[in-house]
Amino acid sequence: MLGQDLALHLAARHEALPLGRSDADITDSRAVAQAIASRSPDVVIHAAAFTAVDDCEQKPELALQVNGGGTRNVALACGQIGARMVYISTDYVFDGQKDSPYVETDDPSPINTYGKSKLQGENYLRVLQDSWIVRVSWLFGPLGKNFVRTILGRAREGQNLRIVDDQVGAPTYTVDAAEKIEQIVESGAPGIYHVTNQGYCSWFAFAAEILAQAGLGGAPLSPISSLALGRPAARPTNSRLANARLAASAMGLLPPWQDALRRYLLREPPA
Ligand SMILES: NC(=O)c1ccc[n+]([C@@H]2O[C@H](COP(=O)([O-])OP(=O)(O)OC[C@H]3O[C@@H](n4cnc5c(N)ncnc54)[C@H](OP(=O)(O)O)[C@@H]3O)[C@@H](O)[C@H]2O)c1
Repeated sequence: MLGQDLALHLAARHEALPLGRSDADITDSRAVAQAIASRSPDVVIHAAAFTAVDDCEQKPELALQVNGGGTRNVALACGQIGARMVYISTDYVFDGQKDSPYVETDDPSPINTYGKSKLQGENYLRVLQDSWIVRVSWLFGPLGKNFVRTILGRAREGQNLRIVDDQVGAPTYTVDAAEKIEQIVESGAPGIYHVTNQGYCSWFAFAAEILAQAGLGGAPLSPISSLALGRPAARPTNSRLANARLAASAMGLLPPWQDALRRYLLREPPA
């Protein structure tokens, strides 16, 4: 989802060379090294991951192999040719216990396997000078399975929607994130960045806004607790990422998430 939007966005002003699983499985160190070396990039943006959070909980070895080991392979391949690397990471590296939004300098402490595997990926970037870690959250975009599409699909089928209201974060549009990631790379200043649309909400409030903007405000929607939903993987209750580095830079912040949702729905009108 994010990788394809990055490739589309970057192609306007850069030579963008998208790589997918068929070009290289990131768990195959030789294939990754060959795929990267043969293209001689200046910068590699690594957005591939095993992203199904509950599946990661059921398959912890695979999660660590893909999100940890796969990232190590990309980092080593970048190191071999002197390419700079951007690693896309997640709000789920935090435990959610902080009572305010997480800043880039906060210590990660993941509470599920996905978060642990993504943090392992972050740690592998230490072998690289001048690299970037970009943490995003609650992504939605035109080129992937996402929460907006799921909510609209279920509402149109007449399902009763029960959505968790005790996890809070920032829905983030892949198109806005791709634009900001380009700016971060062009700024040249390495390190950790939090990149999310502005404002925070619960999944329940996000669903309510999706239905309202799509003209489906009458659809049956009710809040449920994470405990009652009983998903295999625990989620942080506080997934809020403060975009402190962006705020302190000339790059500025992303637009509010409600505005991003409006633009997404205009591009992909609800049927
Ligand atoms: N989605 C979110 O809400 C969210 C939130 C925070 C952070 N992130 C992070 O943002 C990044 C992008 O997320 P996304 O939602 O755009 O991901 P996505 O749509 O699930 O795409 C992940 C991509 O990684 C590929 N992939 C998986 N295993 C691979 C392997 N072993 N070798 C090569 N490619 C492999 C997948 O290929 P296949 O389709 O062939 O499996 C897919 O193309 C990820 O790093 C994710 O951890 C996402």
